Amino acid sequence: MSTQITWYGHATLGVNTSGYQLIIDPFFSGNPASPITAEQVQADYLLITHGHGDHVGDSIAIAARTHAEVISNFEIVNWFVKQGVKKTHGQHLGGGFQYPFGYLKLTLALHGSALPDGSYGGNPAGFLLTTNDHKKIYLAGDTGLFGDMQLIGEEGIDLAVIPIGDNYTMGPIDALRAVKLIHPKHIIPIHFNTWDLIEQDGQAWSEKVESEVDCQVHVLKPGDTFTL
Ligand code: NI
Ligand code: MN
Repeated sequence: MSTQITWYGHATLGVNTSGYQLIIDPFFSGNPASPITAEQVQADYLLITHGHGDHVGDSIAIAARTHAEVISNFEIVNWFVKQGVKKTHGQHLGGGFQYPFGYLKLTLALHGSALPDGSYGGNPAGFLLTTNDHKKIYLAGDTGLFGDMQLIGEEGIDLAVIPIGDNYTMGPIDALRAVKLIHPKHIIPIHFNTWDLIEQDGQAWSEKVESEVDCQVHVLKPGDTFTL
């Protein structure tokens, strides 16, 4: 059994595991980096890290069309219910739940979480997914560097997906410090090169990280898939 992770540009990811299709932060319409449209997306679950528009994205339309279950924090899930989304599951920071696709825990993230209409979106989160074949995937979400990433790393992380774009999230220098706290085997950088404001040289960052830490960095192009 393996898990496939596809990057659709920005912070949007597909995770295929145990025969289930998960979409993380489904931002397709208005995402200049996405190689596909929202209408082409298949999903069993939508995982939303926080309330910002570039993360909530096309969730409502995709949930209506695919009947995917929306997973997020309690406040965001309540907002989705008010928008007419039928299948939801609310969790909160530090809490985990066993889904058919694996065990999912919400982790801290240092960021904001207001929803597109200004509604309160609770606290932003990352996700720690333990797949059914016991691989650990840390999806950091939009976040600044924080020392408790070390606690997450103590779980033994096979893959960390972390932002490197700067301005709104960690930039390359703090993302390298994050890698040193998390010690993942594999890393996929995201939340960069969507717009000029968060332009970064992924290849240069990859070489710097691999020269200082024993790990493999996978700099994907939007649409590329990494198999764990
Ligand atoms: Ni954000
Ligand atoms: Mn963002």
